[in-house]
Amino acid sequence: MTLHCEQIPYSRLAEEFGTPLYVYSQAALTNAFGAYTEAFSALEPLVCYAVKANGNLSILKHFASLGSGFDIVSGGELARVLAAGGDAGKTIFSGVGKSEAEIEFALNAGVLCFNVESLPELDRIQAVAGRIGKTAPVSLRINPDVDAKTHPYISTGLKANKFGIAYTDALAAYRYAAGLSRLKIVGIDCHIGSQLTDLSPLTEACERILLLVDRLAEEGIGLEHIDLGGGIGIVYHNESAPDLNAYARSVARMMAGRGQKLVLEPGRSLVGNAGTLLTRVEFVKQGEEKNFVIVDAAMNDLMRPALYNAYHRIEAVELRNIKPFTADVVGPVCETGDFLGQQRELACEAGDLLVVANAGAYGSSMASNYNTRNRAAEVLVNGGEARLIRRRETWEQQMANETACL
Ligand code: LLP
Repeated sequence: MTLHCEQIPYSRLAEEFGTPLYVYSQAALTNAFGAYTEAFSALEPLVCYAVKANGNLSILKHFASLGSGFDIVSGGELARVLAAGGDAGKTIFSGVGKSEAEIEFALNAGVLCFNVESLPELDRIQAVAGRIGKTAPVSLRINPDVDAKTHPYISTGLKANKFGIAYTDALAAYRYAAGLSRLKIVGIDCHIGSQLTDLSPLTEACERILLLVDRLAEEGIGLEHIDLGGGIGIVYHNESAPDLNAYARSVARMMAGRGQKLVLEPGRSLVGNAGTLLTRVEFVKQGEEKNFVIVDAAMNDLMRPALYNAYHRIEAVELRNIKPFTADVVGPVCETGDFLGQQRELACEAGDLLVVANAGAYGSSMASNYNTRNRAAEVLVNGGEARLIRRRETWEQQMANETACL
């Protein structure tokens, strides 16, 4: 038995493209996007894929071809969306620290709106729009003060987080925005965190946002859209799978009879399960207290285990007739935190291939060059065809912007 991505054995991909290698299934991308449009079909939402989860141009192009819009958080991500043929008119610009240059770029490109997170940001957008003679569509990101019950580093909807405008300041912020001549208020948004497997915080946030929409309407501030932020969590290990259809039904019930368009910004749930990190075992090392499977992928390729203590399933590509043993799966980087998995039961030896599962989201997009390691290549599999969608980086590319001066 050997593991495949769609119809292609991983061993063939490793031979052809080398390791470490990110491998994505196009069908899984399509299905994940379809699950959202299907579940929310009663509301005909605009699904804006969160580019930060995986910004590869081919992946963006594929989502654009399915009708997706985009959620971006930097000028660089907007450049990616445009390069991939995405529609700026379906792109929303989130993030707490947009620079003047980024705002100008986005206004000229014609983004759907800016998700604004503070009063000084409103002032900055007003100033840039005035300078270049444009009107800026804005939505205010309101912090609903709901506990998302996820890892503290990826929880964003609490009072103590840097994100959004406080719920209690929301009306005043809208009044302030309404007084700025170069801004057009188009929406409201929230985002309470990522990898949410319990749906109740999401529906609670929606409820609180809709209360505000009603208060705004009473003040004569009408909105075109309501943006509920990122998507649901995925199953990495033993989490219970959140039910997208149940979430959609709750939202549809709450939104019924309202004139606003629904906007969603899912990232992880569109790409997470579609990708794996393929890696080769360099050595099996028996330590004094532990065994180590040393592989050619490392924390610079997939940072999630080191940064969040995140769990990714790890499996041998070939079923081998070797006695299974327990080991930490670690990379060549010189840090004790450089592990992809700890205390895993594996049956493998040097030269074997392993897949690190559910690595499509926040894997390659968070990769770095630490230890001067080249970033991994990426491949998109469609049925029996595999296309290289990112070449393996080279040392020359890594050093290209540096000078060795005296
Ligand atoms: N919208 C906004 C404003 C966001 O900040 C995020 C994620 C999303 C949408 C997409 O959320 P999703 O559907 O992916 O849950 N690096 C971390 C995740 C950071 C998420 C940051 N914001 C990880 O690897 O778990």
